[in-house]
Amino acid sequence: MSAEVFFRTHIDGETIDPSRFLARFDEISSFGATGDGGLDRQALSKPDIEAHRTVIDWFRRPGYRINADAVGNIFITRAGTDGTAAPLVTGSHLDSQPTGGRFDGALGVVAAAEVLASLDDRAIATRRPIQLAIWMNEEGCRFSPVTMGSAVFSGSLPSAVAGRAVDREGASFARELDKFFLGIGVKGTTEPLSRPWRYLELHIEQGPILECEHSTIGVVTGVQGTIQYRIDIEGQEAHAGTTPPAMRRDAFKAARTLIDRIESKLEDGDCSTRFTVGRCDIHPSAPNTIAGRTSFTVDLRHPDASTLERHDVLIHKTIQDYAGPCGVTLTKLINTKPVAFDLRLTNAIDAAAERRGLARQHLLSGATHDAARIAGLCPAAMIFVPCRNGLSHCPEEFASETDMIAGVSVLHDVVLAEAQA
Ligand code: HGY
Ligand code: MN
Ligand code: MN
Repeated sequence: MSAEVFFRTHIDGETIDPSRFLARFDEISSFGATGDGGLDRQALSKPDIEAHRTVIDWFRRPGYRINADAVGNIFITRAGTDGTAAPLVTGSHLDSQPTGGRFDGALGVVAAAEVLASLDDRAIATRRPIQLAIWMNEEGCRFSPVTMGSAVFSGSLPSAVAGRAVDREGASFARELDKFFLGIGVKGTTEPLSRPWRYLELHIEQGPILECEHSTIGVVTGVQGTIQYRIDIEGQEAHAGTTPPAMRRDAFKAARTLIDRIESKLEDGDCSTRFTVGRCDIHPSAPNTIAGRTSFTVDLRHPDASTLERHDVLIHKTIQDYAGPCGVTLTKLINTKPVAFDLRLTNAIDAAAERRGLARQHLLSGATHDAARIAGLCPAAMIFVPCRNGLSHCPEEFASETDMIAGVSVLHDVVLAEAQA
């Protein structure tokens, strides 16, 4: 059956169940809700476990297989008619930032669940299995790095690095993961899971472009590169009142000096560079004690690989050239090159949006995503929907029901057609 005929017979008109999707989205939004419209559902926290268990429970029935890999990625597989065919995978993440929004990640997971449920409603069989993936710890704020689960799955991060991760309270990722597996009632397996055939992810844009351009659908062409570092500085605690300037080994002063030097060197008029110091821990953080230790993160992004490399060299050199009284250690947490998504898939998204008469445009993603990691394994693409005022990673994050339903419908159309190929 050609894709055209398939579309006419299966896709035109209503396909997904908007009220089921919205009810499920609200249910997932309740886990970790902070009362201000936002979420605190950090990786492996109790709300994260509850959200994962809820999605898994939707599919504990015949026709579905549920697996977890050794780093906690979840795969819910709807059987295809061809048992030898590699799966079409779609999904996203359920963990959030500490003061995150309820749309980042969860939209893509609940949307993928809705696509599967709508196929079950119409008893549509697909040649390929369709797999709902929930990637572990995409945000990387409790346990570094960002996109940890999909980076391990795609082989771009050794699983040992994940296993050694520790949060700021000293809890180990490995120990928390054991509680996670217990909480969701699924054991992690070390057996190799099937390699995805294609990957699709629905996500909010997390920026201002679609809203400014009055587009409903973003056809994502790729993801800019991201490097994250942690800089640890060793000084000496001492008395704030008695210690003369020449004797001070002030670790927070050293941090300020290095941040200012790096930032001023990066300021070359290129507004595509994104430099963020989002975390700075000071020890002992007492008003009348000179900081003995500080640790801060740098999140650096750029769409061009050679520019990102140049900035990386500059950061290393700035740290090496530091000649102050403190010890400085630079650790690179993740280094991901810019990624281009698969042209055939982006064309399929464009065509599906056009068929539904949805205003759309092509754009690069400023945020990184699991799709950027999985693109290293198979052809991948993303669909965006707008964010109000371009805000994300905050309680004000918001996407309208109409835009979400439009995004789920386009995801449905492309997943269904691709799963027949
Ligand atoms: O950091 C990111 O870009 C993603 O939102 N976690
Ligand atoms: Mn996300
Ligand atoms: Mn995010």
